[in-house]
Amino acid sequence: MDKFVIEGGRKLQGSVRVSGSKNAVLPVLAATLLTDEPVVIPNAPDVSDVRQMLKVLEGLGSKCERSKEGALSVRSASVPHNEAGWDCVRKMRGSVAVLGPVLARTQHARVSLPGGCVIGVRPVDLHIKGMRALGAKVDVDGGDIIASATGGLRGEEMYLGGAQGPTVLGTANVMMAATLAKGRTVIHGAACEPEVVDLGDCLNKMGARITGLGSPRIEIEGVDRLHGCTHSVIPDRIEAGTLVIAGAMTGSKIRVEGCRPDHLMILLERMREAELPHHFGTDWIETMAFDPRKKRAKPTDVTTLPHPAFPTDLQAQWMALMTTADGMSLVTETIFTDRYMHVAELMRMGANIRRQGASAIVMGPANLKGTQVMASDLRASAALVLAGLVAEGTTEVHRVYHIDRGYARIEQRLAELGASIARVDDDPDAIATDTAPAKDTLTPAKAAVLPKPAATKTAPALKTNPAVKTSPARAAAKKPKAKAARR
Ligand code: EPU
Repeated sequence: MDKFVIEGGRKLQGSVRVSGSKNAVLPVLAATLLTDEPVVIPNAPDVSDVRQMLKVLEGLGSKCERSKEGALSVRSASVPHNEAGWDCVRKMRGSVAVLGPVLARTQHARVSLPGGCVIGVRPVDLHIKGMRALGAKVDVDGGDIIASATGGLRGEEMYLGGAQGPTVLGTANVMMAATLAKGRTVIHGAACEPEVVDLGDCLNKMGARITGLGSPRIEIEGVDRLHGCTHSVIPDRIEAGTLVIAGAMTGSKIRVEGCRPDHLMILLERMREAELPHHFGTDWIETMAFDPRKKRAKPTDVTTLPHPAFPTDLQAQWMALMTTADGMSLVTETIFTDRYMHVAELMRMGANIRRQGASAIVMGPANLKGTQVMASDLRASAALVLAGLVAEGTTEVHRVYHIDRGYARIEQRLAELGASIARVDDDPDAIATDTAPAKDTLTPAKAAVLPKPAATKTAPALKTNPAVKTSPARAAAKKPKAKAARR
């Protein structure tokens, strides 16, 4: 297990390029199951959630390859196995996106129910509702979703929004299944997120007939078959937003390149209200230098809502920024109302935050001080890294495998901008007991990213892949690889 050691107080400078979107590529990878031809994704980010999704696809029988240049090619000549078990779904909830494609392609699918996670209860009732609307028989048994559509799926008009609003992966799942259904499907209450639009664009390149993308009414005319394509996914708007917040928090001039500011208009607007100087062009955002000791951000409230409102995936990072603002701000989370694991850790660093139901009152400005903090989920980890960049002294962020799920080599890229941040082996005892300071090992490869060294019951039609699920040799072989890949 690795941790980050961050020396706070450094200015950042330079430019950084945004990776392909993790949340766009995961459903696009699932969509590769809809055709027997190869689908190539030139800019798939090399993050652990993508590597996990490739394992899921390989378990279903797909062949996946990454070129030296980083392009991912996936071919599902057939789908001999139609089960995504608990082992993969528990590691990455996004793997539930294979339900629609596997069902549409093989007429049977068994996918483990994801269950809850650290950001709250995460039901999939809307995914199931959508598959049933398309004529599938869906049962939940033994913790698995078991779906079959023996005569094939048929198009239907449906309302897919839930009590919490639209569902991103639910819309993706139903849209993918509907591409091969007989007739026309209309999804009302569809998610409008850029990642759903991107998936629709990819499906249309594969021969699907989808209209209304980006609106809450998506129409899909079913086709007999889809073909392969090459599709570059959209830039990761959450990674871009995190980097922009890093520039704003440290009062630095940095340029975030290869991004889509039009996907981040709400963040830029909130930054304008917070009087954080920045400007942007068609594919870049630049934050401007200022002295954060002399000029503080204006406290600015945010409420997370579906796109184009403030994204839940930037809530933790915004909160980190607001801890340093000049006064009180309110952060309200309406998508995952328990997504506040970062609050206690930010408070350990000196932030003054009070939870009030689905809101958090942030009393700034806090003079954050470096200490040991624990990453708990992907975006909470990003918030702790941001706090570490401005904290006085050394911050150690433990369990950074959470951040590796969605940010490619984040420490290296921040270091290239001038941050003092290094990945070091963590002492498991230090995490378990949270007492003695960790004994660090700074390997040369890791030290290279540190500019100035820091101090310190199965349905008969379902076919499983026994090689993937049961072979201990394969399981053992996977372990060291996963560790090496993390670095
Ligand atoms: N919901 C239901 N029933 C469902 C599905 C969702 O009630 O069947 C509720 C959820 O509980 C939540 C709301 O609807 O309150 C929205 O959830 P949604 O289904 O949109 O979330 P998701 O598709 O599972 C994706 C991203 C998340 C991101 C959310 C919201 C991927 C792989 N994940 O999740 O990303 O927070 O949309 O934008 O695309 C992350 O990257 O850190 C992350 C958690």
